[in-house]
Amino acid sequence: MKVEKAAVIGAGTMGAGIAQVLSQAGIEVILKDVKQEFVERGLASIQRMYESRVKKEVLTQPEADHLFAMIQGTTSWEGFADVDLVIEAALETIDLKLEIFGELDRRCPSRTILATNTSALSISEIAQHTKRPDKVVGMHLFNPAQAMKLVEVIPGIETSHQTVELALELCRELHKIPVKVEECPGFLVNRLLFPYLNEALHVLEEGIAEPESVDKAAVAFGLPMGPFTLLDMTGIDVCSHVTSFLYGEYGVRFEPVSILKSLVGKGQLGQKSGCGFYVHEKGKPPAKEEPRKLNPELNDLLATIRKGRMQPKASRTFDVNRVILPMFNEAIYAIQEGVVQAKDVDVAMEFGCGLTRGLLSLAEEKGFAWCLAEMEAYQEVLGERFRPAWLLRKLVRGGVHDFTRLHAAVAVV
Ligand SMILES: NC(=O)c1ccc[n+]([C@@H]2O[C@H](COP(=O)([O-])OP(=O)(O)OC[C@H]3O[C@@H](n4cnc5c(N)ncnc54)[C@H](O)[C@@H]3O)[C@@H](O)[C@H]2O)c1
Repeated sequence: MKVEKAAVIGAGTMGAGIAQVLSQAGIEVILKDVKQEFVERGLASIQRMYESRVKKEVLTQPEADHLFAMIQGTTSWEGFADVDLVIEAALETIDLKLEIFGELDRRCPSRTILATNTSALSISEIAQHTKRPDKVVGMHLFNPAQAMKLVEVIPGIETSHQTVELALELCRELHKIPVKVEECPGFLVNRLLFPYLNEALHVLEEGIAEPESVDKAAVAFGLPMGPFTLLDMTGIDVCSHVTSFLYGEYGVRFEPVSILKSLVGKGQLGQKSGCGFYVHEKGKPPAKEEPRKLNPELNDLLATIRKGRMQPKASRTFDVNRVILPMFNEAIYAIQEGVVQAKDVDVAMEFGCGLTRGLLSLAEEKGFAWCLAEMEAYQEVLGERFRPAWLLRKLVRGGVHDFTRLHAAVAVV
């Protein structure tokens, strides 16, 4: 089936972006929200995006007008009787998504594929709320949807092979890079990113490095920005919520720190509130070369947290591998569980979070044995969250040194 007409539920940040991406590929789109003002706001942001393409001479004015006219904003269910695909991008609460999918199931023809852009909720649970769980799939686009190339395509327990293939094919038509990820908490990119962010927070709480030096080291490694800049940009409240969620799902590897909750308690939520780890001009991303101003209350907050707490036996001086290795180890866990194919890990991290240096290339450069030895050394000092994935030991024991052998080894796991 070729998608010729689609609908997007929710005209917010993601919904508007997704509607634009679909329209740009020549797909007719219904963009639905609960209030006319929200629909208008979504349409206005799409129009601005098209205007900027005209300014940049990517499109002519008539082309932009034609593509924009492919999107019809609405608050009603009119037009849903002949859509080929729906992408839901409403708020991230399970009850709301279950209600929306129940309604979509009643309103759309039985052939319609129902996709959700959820960042973390269970695709299988959402699918169970419909009479067509085989046609429900996760399509996790990243923000901003127009610019970010990666789409995690996530089947639920009953999603059919055809539905997954259709979602993958649609992503390619939209000039995106799809990676199939089996359903697991955090899917792939967030699952790998959060151990890295979390470890940077442990480093900070131990007092062995300042945010700016950790940020600089991460950028030098190949990340587009350091962990503290990213935490501030994403929102400290959002990150605190995700960390607690992942800790609840995976346990000790995601052992949380206190500083996020302390900052949330003070209303210091990052860029959006004007202060997080750094001080920000409200809502504005920092200029690249600008010196960063540390939150003046941060050191007092950290001192309170440290008071009466056991510090690790022998903290080593800060080395960027301390924050990169937990991300690498989580990738090995995901491969070991069959969540993702090894060949897709570096692609997902490059196009989902801008990591210019392949995560698994760390192993190629340094060797799996080096990664294992480093993980074990950190485990001895910092505990269980550094326990190496058993697949890493298996690779080392098997004398595997490169990706080809890694793929072959994973194929028989
Ligand atoms: N913002 C991100 O960075 C990001 C990235 C990837 C995925 N997501 C996911 O995308 C989804 C949307 O996130 P967002 O950031 O665009 O949120 P948002 O708050 O910007 O927009 C959500 C929109 O959904 C509308 N809505 C609420 N209930 C609705 C209903 N019953 N029917 C139709 N519309 C309804 C709201 O009015 C709002 O306009 C969430 O599931 C989120 O987890 C967000």
